[in-house]
Amino acid sequence: MKLCIIGTGYVGLVSGVCFSDLGNDVICVDNNKKKIKDLENGIIPIYEPGLEELVNKNSKSGRLIFTSNLKYAVKNSNIIFICVGTPTNKKNNSANLNQVYKVVNNISKYINKFKIIVTKSTVPVNTGDTIIKLISKKKNKKLFEVVSNPEFLREGEAIRDFMYPDRIVVGSNNRRANNIIKNLYDPLIKRGGKYFNTSRRAAELIKYASNAFLATKISYINEISNLCEKVGVAVEDIAIGMGLDQRIGSRFLRAGPGYGGSCFPKDVDALILMTKKNKGKESSLLREVKHTNNRQKLILIEYLSFIQQYFFV
Ligand SMILES: NC(=O)c1ccc[n+]([C@@H]2O[C@H](COP(=O)([O-])OP(=O)(O)OC[C@H]3O[C@@H](n4cnc5c(N)ncnc54)[C@H](O)[C@@H]3O)[C@@H](O)[C@H]2O)c1
Repeated sequence: MKLCIIGTGYVGLVSGVCFSDLGNDVICVDNNKKKIKDLENGIIPIYEPGLEELVNKNSKSGRLIFTSNLKYAVKNSNIIFICVGTPTNKKNNSANLNQVYKVVNNISKYINKFKIIVTKSTVPVNTGDTIIKLISKKKNKKLFEVVSNPEFLREGEAIRDFMYPDRIVVGSNNRRANNIIKNLYDPLIKRGGKYFNTSRRAAELIKYASNAFLATKISYINEISNLCEKVGVAVEDIAIGMGLDQRIGSRFLRAGPGYGGSCFPKDVDALILMTKKNKGKESSLLREVKHTNNRQKLILIEYLSFIQQYFFV
């Protein structure tokens, strides 16, 4: 299939490279011209085990190309993946969708025949509906379909996570679009990846609900670890004892300084705001997950200054 990937950051680059390795023709677009030039010269902007080899192999085969020319990329592809950033809006902690909407406006100028537009960026529920409204201002609705396909890869394990996914979530009620996307993922389904087709809004929400759940698990074990310290119990033993229960599972039960990284804090914030906006009421659970996480960092700082006081005088 002919694919266009917009945004060659973590998600876009890994997805584009892996899709080309599966035999698709992939055009990766970024408005950062230096990044594109570097990629053309085999210089990879992020470190991810196995990525450099896959970029070089698929660039040489001609199946993977890098460009800043969005018009060329859109016109020469059937499926367009939006993989730009959705950082936290500092004013109200919502997801900032400026990059997504800018891309959507640009794509809509160049739609020349039927295209499937897929959001891989993490976007709040209803964003797909807004994208349809924006494109419909310029193009006939029969010329495009908007699908949500959130990405669940982890940094450091990204290639493996993409090539051997637990699940592939695809949000679309359109049978034609769903069949095409299912076909695209067929090699990964054959490897055991579970394909789950649902509504576009559900797919958008699944991503936030998943990340917030993992963040909750981390805050939970940190809360327990603070109790463990008071009662003289090793939290690692608690994590092992809990994790052996298959309903709970052992992952994300490691006590420590709290969650961080590029996704959990912003996705928890965005879900808190989404809940408030749509339910009219705050999620006290998610609010507490965030507080526990912030408190955990302070506990660690207090602990480090205590150690410093006694051992480095
Ligand atoms: N990083 C992760 O591990 C991860 C995992 C799953 C989902 N996500 C989600 O995927 C999305 C992308 O995350 P990321 O970490 O890859 O972001 P990133 O910031 O690393 O990359 C975004 C890329 O988009 C490019 N870009 C921005 N505007 C553009 C435009 N108008 N035209 C062309 N290119 C443009 C930027 O130059 C950049 O290279 C986010 O919504 C994120 O929440 C990230």
